[in-house]
Amino acid sequence: MAIKLGIIGFGGMGKWHAKNTPRAGVEVAAVCDITEERWKDAETEGYKLYKSADALLSDPNINTVVLTVPNYLHKEMCLKAAAAGKHVITEKPAAMSVAELDEMEAACKKAGVFFTVHQNRRWDKDMLIIKKAYDDGLLGRIFTIESKLHSGNGYMHEWHIYKKYGGGMIYDWGVHLIDQILFMMPGVTITSLYADVKSVLHQEVDDYFKIIMKMSNGITVHIELSTYILEYQPRWLAAGDKGTMIVKSFRCDGNIYRTGQMLEKLPPQITETVAGPTRQFAPIPPGGIVTEALPEVLSDWVDFYKNVNAVLEGREESKIKISEVRRVLGVMEAVWKSAETGQAVLLE
Ligand SMILES: NC(=O)c1ccc[n+]([C@@H]2O[C@H](COP(=O)([O-])OP(=O)(O)OC[C@H]3O[C@@H](n4cnc5c(N)ncnc54)[C@H](O)[C@@H]3O)[C@@H](O)[C@H]2O)c1
Repeated sequence: MAIKLGIIGFGGMGKWHAKNTPRAGVEVAAVCDITEERWKDAETEGYKLYKSADALLSDPNINTVVLTVPNYLHKEMCLKAAAAGKHVITEKPAAMSVAELDEMEAACKKAGVFFTVHQNRRWDKDMLIIKKAYDDGLLGRIFTIESKLHSGNGYMHEWHIYKKYGGGMIYDWGVHLIDQILFMMPGVTITSLYADVKSVLHQEVDDYFKIIMKMSNGITVHIELSTYILEYQPRWLAAGDKGTMIVKSFRCDGNIYRTGQMLEKLPPQITETVAGPTRQFAPIPPGGIVTEALPEVLSDWVDFYKNVNAVLEGREESKIKISEVRRVLGVMEAVWKSAETGQAVLLE
């Protein structure tokens, strides 16, 4: 069944879906928005335009909609779309809470339409490289993974700075960063979680968070995001007992680092360093560390849509299951609870 897509909300992400989904065989049937500026954009770019979601939903040529409106509207639009008999793809975060998601899922089930969420960052190559290290044991037994996203751009914009519209970085990026970790480690549970959440530059919404998750496989996961850390740390670090992997950025630059024979050849004597005498923390002798290239991974964000199409044709299972989305929203709620109480939360 070819997807005939209606895009509800023709802002930044609405335009992304319009531009990129045809590569996956999707027909962009129409778009809608409520602002004059976006109406002009749609006309200039040659899309069939509706000026309200209700009008778009009454178009019988559309079988699927993607919700690219601000977060607080996802539930309302999903319920309307399901009632109109359209399959629903919502942008992330799917909902503002687990309770909202449950309502959305129930409405889609009742209407007999497919419901999924555009968790596109499961197709990010930087994350898939770390996942490959995890899956293939490239670093031996991994003991820690750090997922960090730092920006110097500081201020967020428009609806993102207001709570009532679903603003803040936990909704915006936390949802991806948590989802990536849970996707990376299927079958693994979160034993406990501690989080710190701050508003550094903004009044209402969070723009910094640090989440520490102790996983049932023994790995400690650190997730950190800031809109105002000016010297970026690597996007990813994974360390195991056979090496360390650094993926510096979304460009997938980085290396695997291993200690040649250094473990056998540690100098027996105490070494004098600028930090004082030490064995463990002395500089590693020249040649003690060898570097390897990162493995290559192939991935394309529009494979999300190829999967939706295959689900609608009964050929594949959905790659983004609502049970997984629900789990991530539950973890986000635990993040807020831990930040509020200052206590670790025993989770799963
Ligand atoms: N998956 C990703 O990589 C990714 C990236 C960016 C944004 N997003 C998500 O996409 C969604 C939209 O974000 P954005 O950055 O495109 O925001 P945006 O502000 O650029 O666009 C939102 C659009 O929705 C329109 N809109 C508002 N109310 C409407 C209504 N009642 N009916 C129709 N249109 C309406 C606005 O006029 C605006 O054009 C958010 O949920 C966001 O979290 C996802």
